[in-house]
Amino acid sequence: MPKLVVVNRSGEESTVEAAAGLSVMEAIRDNGFDELLALCGGCCSCATCHIYVDPAFTDKLPKMSEDENDLLESSDHRNDTSRLSCQVQLTADLDGLKVTIAPED
Ligand code: FES
Repeated sequence: MPKLVVVNRSGEESTVEAAAGLSVMEAIRDNGFDELLALCGGCCSCATCHIYVDPAFTDKLPKMSEDENDLLESSDHRNDTSRLSCQVQLTADLDGLKVTIAPED
């Protein structure tokens, strides 16, 4: 199972394991992090699953859709590494992926 390193809003780092095929949002939520609200349940319509992805993995991430891009535009905390975690599926290729939960908007 791919490992995922999650940094919470206090800067604490934890490593969790999650089945390939889950989204990063599901993996974070299922491992008990309550900071990631993911209010829309993964339909790419709320932006409350905003994360920052370690730049080392940028090339391995799925391409961002226009909807995801538009939603991220609505965040005051967007930066070059921003993604919506419900739009990134875990794969073996992403083993060791490190993400940081973005501040709440
Ligand atoms: S959970 Fe709503 S956009 Fe990701």
